[in-house]
Amino acid sequence: MTRETDVEPMQGRLVVASNRLPVVLDRGRDGRWRAEPGSGGLVTAMRPVLQGRGGVWVGWPGADPEQDGTGLRKALDELSEGSGYSVHPVLLTEKEKEDFYLGFSNQVIWPLFHDFQTQCNFDPRFWETYRKVNRKFAEALREVSREGDFLWVHDYHLMSVAEDLHALGVKSQTGFFLHIPFPHLDLFVKLPWRFSILRSLLSFDLIGFQSARDRSNFLQCLDALLPSAEIGGKPTDRVRLVRLGDRHVRVGVFPIAIDFEEFASEAASSEVSERAARLRAEGLGRKLVLGVDRLDYSKGVPHKLKGFRLALKRYPDLRERVTLVQLVIPSRENIPEYERLKMEIERLVGAIQGEFTRGDWAPIHYQYGHWDRVELLAHYREAAVALVTPLKDGMNLVAKEYCASSLEGEGVLILSEYAGATAQLQNDALLVNPFDVEGVAEAIHEGAIMSREDRRRRMGSLRRTIQDFDLSWWVDSFLKAAREDGWRDLPSVHTFQPQPPEGFFSF
Ligand code: G6P
Repeated sequence: MTRETDVEPMQGRLVVASNRLPVVLDRGRDGRWRAEPGSGGLVTAMRPVLQGRGGVWVGWPGADPEQDGTGLRKALDELSEGSGYSVHPVLLTEKEKEDFYLGFSNQVIWPLFHDFQTQCNFDPRFWETYRKVNRKFAEALREVSREGDFLWVHDYHLMSVAEDLHALGVKSQTGFFLHIPFPHLDLFVKLPWRFSILRSLLSFDLIGFQSARDRSNFLQCLDALLPSAEIGGKPTDRVRLVRLGDRHVRVGVFPIAIDFEEFASEAASSEVSERAARLRAEGLGRKLVLGVDRLDYSKGVPHKLKGFRLALKRYPDLRERVTLVQLVIPSRENIPEYERLKMEIERLVGAIQGEFTRGDWAPIHYQYGHWDRVELLAHYREAAVALVTPLKDGMNLVAKEYCASSLEGEGVLILSEYAGATAQLQNDALLVNPFDVEGVAEAIHEGAIMSREDRRRRMGSLRRTIQDFDLSWWVDSFLKAAREDGWRDLPSVHTFQPQPPEGFFSF
């Protein structure tokens, strides 16, 4: 639960819009509706926020409206009753799902914003449907909101909603938070709809980014493409003001977080402790190296597997002593690139097993599916090393969840330089460039042999940072920044640049 805080209560309610609701509904063969928890950082972070504060969550339930609308409504009402907030569905037709969700959101914006330009499909039909669906979300927000509510819109699926809200005459204050990275100008200019997207984003009163890297990319795009915009403040300011004529837009950095206390206390529960003990016994004293990733090319799972293979090759002492447990969570399976990626991962896992398996030891335990909370927390608790090596990531909450659940304080976090979390965790994680397979292999070896003292020092400090900047800090800062002058006393932002090894440039 989100803690009570010293931020003045908002006058109106919090009305949240995101493409996904926290559950994905689907009707089984028996005709009954089933609710699978949604995956990804957005749902993980926003669910406790709304549970703690109440309000309304507007989003797509993942189900097809052709499938019995009354049953669906009932399933959503049940969800509202148990959760402390109400849920308002936005239904998408099959074509909208194809062109808005699988198309524009996940074959244009997602790859472009994660620096995978060659995977973009700039089909103009996708854009048309994107605009239509954003309009649909704006209409839903108009329907559920009342004067004084704060409308908080999330993520890349809904970048045009504020522009539509203005057109619909909605006067409420609006904020937008981008959960994924914002790309560099060189990439952003490739987008055929680059000016429209900028105008849409600037229709929000507050725009939040995950890291200084993302905000600086955004401001650089503004500077280049919209020179009349006046950008105030300094790169380390939590919130900077952009002036466009008589309009002021706040542009802030708010690294998304987790409910630290909740993770730590659930990880200490008897259920998790028992499961963790069983994992330990099954591991026969071997060190557990853990990877937990949604199936996505941005997560760099094949690169990680290659790094692990090289570590086993270079360091025979790791064989039979470490096991990589890699969970891959199904996602966006209808997009061909994701299907190809799954095959690539499974081929690599097979090759590594074939090369190194000895006696009762298999180097990798690979699972494709979902773990429940107890299973996830037990793995976090038991893992000696977590391998979080995305090629690009808005934040990556697995890194934070692992540290919060590492109760003995002895785990090692190996973290990609390209995760948003790196700006906050750079001093105590083992940083890697995920494209550098040798560097990843070295880090795995270093993590596996690190002294207890070093591990405790690093993990202690990681846990403190994650606790200091936890979920309630994130929500409060964002809402504070949305108010008139409340943002001026917020702490300055963390920044990150890769550093050369010591003495490297002393010629
Ligand atoms: C990321 C995005 C979220 C998205 C999640 C899962 O975390 O930032 O907006 O919901 O991935 O992806 P999906 O396509 O299943 O919603």
